[in-house]
Amino acid sequence: MKNYIIHDDWKIIEQGFHPDENRISESLLSIGNGRTGQRANFEEKYSGDTLRGSYVAGVYYPDKTRVGWWKNGYPEYFAKILNATNWIGIDVSVEGEELDLNKAKILSFSRDLDMKSGLLTRRFVAQLPSGKQIEVHSRRFLSIADQEIGAIRYSVKALNFSGEISFLPYIDGDVVNEDSNYDENFWISIAQKIDGCSGFVCLETKKTAFQVSTGMKFKAKLNQELLVLKTKAIQKEKYIGSSFSVQVKQGDEVCIEKYAAIISTLYHAKNKLQEATEKTLKRASDKGFDQLYADQEKSWAKRWETSDISIEGDVAAQQGIRFNIFQLNQTYLGDDERLNIGPKGFTGEKYGGVTYWDTEAYCLPFTLGTSPQMVSKNLLLYRYNHLQKAIKNAENLGFTNGAALYPMVTINGEECHNEWEITFEEIHRNGAIAYGIYNYINYTGDQEYLAPYGFEVLLALSRFWSQRVNWSDEKKKFVMLGVTGPNEYENNVNNNFHTSYMAVWTLKYTLEALDYVKKEHPLLFEGLVKKLKLNELKETSRWKKIINEMYFPYDKTRKIYLQQDGFLDKELIPVSELKPEDRPINQKWSWDRILRSPYIKQADTLQSIFWFEENFDHESTVRHFDFYEPLTVHESSLSSCIHAILAASIGRQEKAYEMYLRTARLDLDDYNNDTCDGLHITSMGGTWMAFVQGFGGMRLKNGLLNFKPFIPEGWNSYAFRLNFREAHLEFRMDKTQFRVFNHSNVNIDLVVHGQSYSLSAKKELTIKNI
Ligand code: BGC
Repeated sequence: MKNYIIHDDWKIIEQGFHPDENRISESLLSIGNGRTGQRANFEEKYSGDTLRGSYVAGVYYPDKTRVGWWKNGYPEYFAKILNATNWIGIDVSVEGEELDLNKAKILSFSRDLDMKSGLLTRRFVAQLPSGKQIEVHSRRFLSIADQEIGAIRYSVKALNFSGEISFLPYIDGDVVNEDSNYDENFWISIAQKIDGCSGFVCLETKKTAFQVSTGMKFKAKLNQELLVLKTKAIQKEKYIGSSFSVQVKQGDEVCIEKYAAIISTLYHAKNKLQEATEKTLKRASDKGFDQLYADQEKSWAKRWETSDISIEGDVAAQQGIRFNIFQLNQTYLGDDERLNIGPKGFTGEKYGGVTYWDTEAYCLPFTLGTSPQMVSKNLLLYRYNHLQKAIKNAENLGFTNGAALYPMVTINGEECHNEWEITFEEIHRNGAIAYGIYNYINYTGDQEYLAPYGFEVLLALSRFWSQRVNWSDEKKKFVMLGVTGPNEYENNVNNNFHTSYMAVWTLKYTLEALDYVKKEHPLLFEGLVKKLKLNELKETSRWKKIINEMYFPYDKTRKIYLQQDGFLDKELIPVSELKPEDRPINQKWSWDRILRSPYIKQADTLQSIFWFEENFDHESTVRHFDFYEPLTVHESSLSSCIHAILAASIGRQEKAYEMYLRTARLDLDDYNNDTCDGLHITSMGGTWMAFVQGFGGMRLKNGLLNFKPFIPEGWNSYAFRLNFREAHLEFRMDKTQFRVFNHSNVNIDLVVHGQSYSLSAKKELTIKNI
């Protein structure tokens, strides 16, 4: 755990340079705009430890996999999110001496990320080995108003000398992924050009043939006066640069504005890339840094208007929640159904592929609550568009009749994960995808999603479950053998409660969906029956049989469902008795020891209880929580949010707060010692849930928003917002009352602490705290 980030309501601040934590700061201060992301690397040369990273949405490379024993059904490749062309580079030298913070004496240093506007700022005073001192101030952002533009304003002031300062703004495509399996370079050069102050490098990915053209255009000023620059072009393979020098007197400041265009074949035809790059650069440079930034501020203000959560009285918690919301908004804007939300977003390389069950389980609630409906629908369509590949994936494993197994991780619908215990066995992901459809329809009321899209996916998922279970003569029940639940610290178990529960629930929900489509859209249904070769009677009778006769391991003494068969054979020593030096166990213990231990990586049985809490009464939830939580090490970033919500719902407010802080500040405080690799973007959706569903107690019941809010001790007040169908609502909770503001033009009914209220358009409601 680290504690060097300064607490602030709106900014992530590093005060003083921490070279040992540089990779962590680079992750934390990453900027992004849904299309591109950039770690907080320095513009100028840095020879110290750094993970250079620029990433372009949807552009990937099928890296060859590394496995010991190849198993049939494994994917052929592991999709890597590519480190893409460096667009931020500006080398600086003073009278021939290169600026490199690893070699200079740093007299002062700070960098911060303003979450209000996505602006990364860095200021430092450096003394070069000759004794010359310069003050540098850099600002940059990736525009969310014009998503193919990045802008940098970089100024250098001569503090104690007069002489020549040279600059070399450049674009460098000669980049590699640190996590490349065979040290391969993934890019080949297509075209490049440098002409005065502007130029571009166009590269193509090997195998996948994506092209990305990255252009730059810059201007420079001396003490606010635009300079006419005499530039010298520099070209190397995949590299263009344009150097120039400025004579300065002590106290003078040279300021460069560098605009970048990042143009990919996801949005432009190959033969139009250069033209689009030049047009975009012209647009950026005509507007200039200030206007681009004004647009940026406006666009971010709009995002915050619907998604901000504010807390009075706890800066650490405030910074945490804003950081989570900010990073989610930087990663996914929801305007393109081919994109999704990767566990690291655009902040690092780890985790090939992009899409895990995390999207449906942890991120969808956030997009539902804070964005226009289309954003969440696009997340669902992403899966719909991958359905045929999920069916193929299941066929490869021996399933038939249009059964689908969605990949554990994917970028284009194909499986990219190949550890057998996860790829083949962590199949609860199929349940999460069904749950995503249910959650979307339940929240938005968009039942019409079912007939054209949802039902087809649900049918394929149910066909999978109905083949994946088998009848046990011994138990006289259906069983689910050889699975891995969300708790990846147990593999190849039988009858994992969560997986079996999701299977049964999916079958039930598919039956409901079938009835709805058949009744409401008979013609469409007839078409679907033909297209999907549905034998309604035969298939649904088996589903019903499974629903009625599924086996769930249960302990009659403790009156709890067991995570899987045999769980009670373990030595049930609580986590609190583990030695601190044994934690995190995934970094300290052998896998063999972990597998035999009772320790749970993340919510497993509790995940089902969270999703289906109406099926578990209060006492039962308490019993399950009290049995499983003490055995849980929360070593997945996805763990604490679910525990925070459950703790809140059973009245354990202190525990809820502890778990909330852990999820909200997971990266800021580097709880799991891995922020250096990138941020835990998908768990940030969980943080939002922990707040709104935990502290706010928000649930949706029979189409009505319900709340059971409480305020953690030490906080004066908090406020959150929700988009719900046509309504836009703001909720403010303080020590004495809960207020709801209806900012929209529609009336809305809601329930607070079990009491029903009607709230007219543009009106507010005040409820005294109980
Ligand atoms: C978790 C999975 C999750 C994945 C990506 C793993 O550590 O156990 O549940 O899908 O990370 O976030």
